[in-house]
Amino acid sequence: MINTLLLDAAFSKPTERPPVWMMRQAGRFMPQYWEIKNKYSFLEMCKTPEIAADVTMLPVDLLDVDAAILFSDILVTAEAMGGDLSFTQGIGPKFANPVRTLADIEKLETEVGDKLQYVADAIKVIQQRLNGKIPLIGFAGAPFTVMSYLVEGGSSKDFKLTKLMLHNEPGLAHRLLAKIATVTADYLNLQIAAGVNAVQIFDSWAQALSWDDYTEFSHRYITGIISKLNRKDIPVISFCKGSSVFAPLMAEAKPDVISIDWNVDLLDIKNRLPKEVAVQGNLDPHILYADKKVIKERIYRLFERMRGENGFIFNLGHGIMPDIPFDNVKYAVEVVKEFRY
Ligand code: CP3
Repeated sequence: MINTLLLDAAFSKPTERPPVWMMRQAGRFMPQYWEIKNKYSFLEMCKTPEIAADVTMLPVDLLDVDAAILFSDILVTAEAMGGDLSFTQGIGPKFANPVRTLADIEKLETEVGDKLQYVADAIKVIQQRLNGKIPLIGFAGAPFTVMSYLVEGGSSKDFKLTKLMLHNEPGLAHRLLAKIATVTADYLNLQIAAGVNAVQIFDSWAQALSWDDYTEFSHRYITGIISKLNRKDIPVISFCKGSSVFAPLMAEAKPDVISIDWNVDLLDIKNRLPKEVAVQGNLDPHILYADKKVIKERIYRLFERMRGENGFIFNLGHGIMPDIPFDNVKYAVEVVKEFRY
């Protein structure tokens, strides 16, 4: 591979500057994304390897980032298990058959590798296009976050039904989480076998959980998934909103990298983690709405803080919002790439 910055930083080796990629880099803030999106539905895009590859390559070609991330969604596992998934513009994901009873859970399938073969096919097309230039990151949703979509039937503000299941029917919740975790570990291994160079686990909504509930209903399953991965030289990145609180616990699941949100001083949290665990983050995505001089100042402030640290990947604390100006995102990548330790 020509540019190994991301892999080096993930394994806490020295790099000349921090590598840069951004969560949701393959998305709606790019006019070129809309040219494709206007022709196909989101799920068609995910399921057609050539189109998924086209979208994956947009930020590689237009932003010159140091890593590509597979164009897909965390909910494709839940769909393969039997969730009747649709995406509606402006509304987001919906499951027409929410999972709320033991009977609903028992119906979910766990042998779904064949149904997700399109992801392996997309990975192969993307790797041909990347031709060894930069690493490709694969990903999956963490069991708690995926469970929340299945139980609520879509996005939620307060996760009321999901938490009610955790609290009133923990046995049911564990049955569901265990099934999702089995599928997730197999799915990440399918991506690794198809050729991804790193994987990220997204537990986007873990922030909603108390420490005890996070430990019992999320951390436990992520630990199991990570222990089952055919990792060899594939770094594992663990992301959650709430990582500024949960990071020390997340480290016990043995990821190589923890992605940190913006509520915390990055160096401070790194110093509280085992030495071999790298960090990714942690610019507030809203900074990318601001003036360029502010963008540069805030990125440099973060870099000055992290100077001398191995094991640092530049990213946002969460995904790029769709209405962030493309020009600002491009500028931020340039600022990172001209920096030297
Ligand atoms: O990062 C990337 O660019 C790779 C692609 C990617 C998408 N979704 C594409 C997408 C990744 C890594 C995801 C992960 C994902 N999906 C997460 C975890 C990341 C996070 O933000 O915390 C979550 C929670 C989802 C579930 C999901 N998918 C929601 C809630 C929505 C609708 C809300 C929204 O932001 O639009 C989606 C749709 C989705 N996933 C889009 C894209 C580009 C928008 C589809 C469209 O064009 O309308």
